[in-house]
Amino acid sequence: MITFKNIEIKYDDFVAVPNLSFAVNEGEFFTLLGPSGCGKTTTLRALAGFLKPTQGSIEIAGVDITAMPIDERQVGMVFQSYALFPTMSAYDNIAFGLKIAKKSKAEIDTRVLELAKMIDLTPEQLAKNVANLSGGQQQRVAIARALAKKPKILVMDEPLSNLDAKLRKSLRKEIKEFQKSFGITTVYVTHDQEEALMLSDRIAVFNKGQIEQIGRPQQIYNESATEFVCKFIGEANSLTAADLAKLGIEVSDASASDAFYVRPEKVSFSRTASAVNRIAGQIVGKEFYGMYGYYQIEIAGTKLISFQRESKAEQHRNGE
Ligand SMILES: Nc1ncnc2c1ncn2[C@@H]1O[C@H](COP(=O)(O)OP(=O)(O)OP(=O)(O)O)[C@@H](O)[C@H]1O
Ligand SMILES: [Mg+2]
Repeated sequence: MITFKNIEIKYDDFVAVPNLSFAVNEGEFFTLLGPSGCGKTTTLRALAGFLKPTQGSIEIAGVDITAMPIDERQVGMVFQSYALFPTMSAYDNIAFGLKIAKKSKAEIDTRVLELAKMIDLTPEQLAKNVANLSGGQQQRVAIARALAKKPKILVMDEPLSNLDAKLRKSLRKEIKEFQKSFGITTVYVTHDQEEALMLSDRIAVFNKGQIEQIGRPQQIYNESATEFVCKFIGEANSLTAADLAKLGIEVSDASASDAFYVRPEKVSFSRTASAVNRIAGQIVGKEFYGMYGYYQIEIAGTKLISFQRESKAEQHRNGE
């Protein structure tokens, strides 16, 4: 559906994206994930047409759109900062593109009401000036506006990052649901790994303008292709072959420079001696995270971190 072929994007002499190639399938929820400054927004802007690549080509449904004007691309865009018209009502914001396209009043009305229903805006909210809506409501308006002209592709640049944690979680669930039910091909940008894991069919992990790995969320998390991906997508214990030997774990063909990674939730411990593959250790640090405890444990001179569920009976203390 979308193909980036050897795309280079420069800001004057600065190469933000050196040589980027990837493909997004029809109907897919595809996420660009990476740290600040890695080129996510730059890549999205090139897809939407706000930026011209200096090399390479972009295709949508087999058509080369590299030089196509923004409004012919049929790409709907949602920005981090809403970018709504502040003096207009929610209704007029959503209707804006349709009015420019000279649609009839009746047609606009039907479409706006259909969109409002889809993204859960009440008629009262539609009538309000957007400046008087909450952040979450404003972002719903922005999504409805992006979808108004029935784009082939929806692109969203960190649409939830200005919202508080609770709203972020509920709105991302809604985004997932409407994307699934309408099947619109979506390219989503975030630097929040949990958001990427929860929303995406596939994730492209970016680092310095390049893709380190593309895969399903489970692959990215459990079969990280590089150390950067492994550490960016979650926490990980990094061990050398010598550490493993001290822990009594044998690995064939390991060289001294190899690194081994274990997710903290895979390291569990208990006072009782019933577990298999068990080895004695000591808790040297603990932070309480509510549902989970974040422990530092030392085993045979090696420090490991462990997330462990905190049931009342199994509370552990520093020094145990
Ligand atoms: N208008 C610009 N002029 C010059 N350099 C720019 C411009 N916009 C972005 N850059 C640079 O290009 C690189 C990629 O920026 P980009 O905005 O794509 O990153 P990002 O991954 O979206 O980051 P963030 O998560 O902070 O939004 C950065 O090094 C940035 O400083
Ligand atoms: Mg950005």
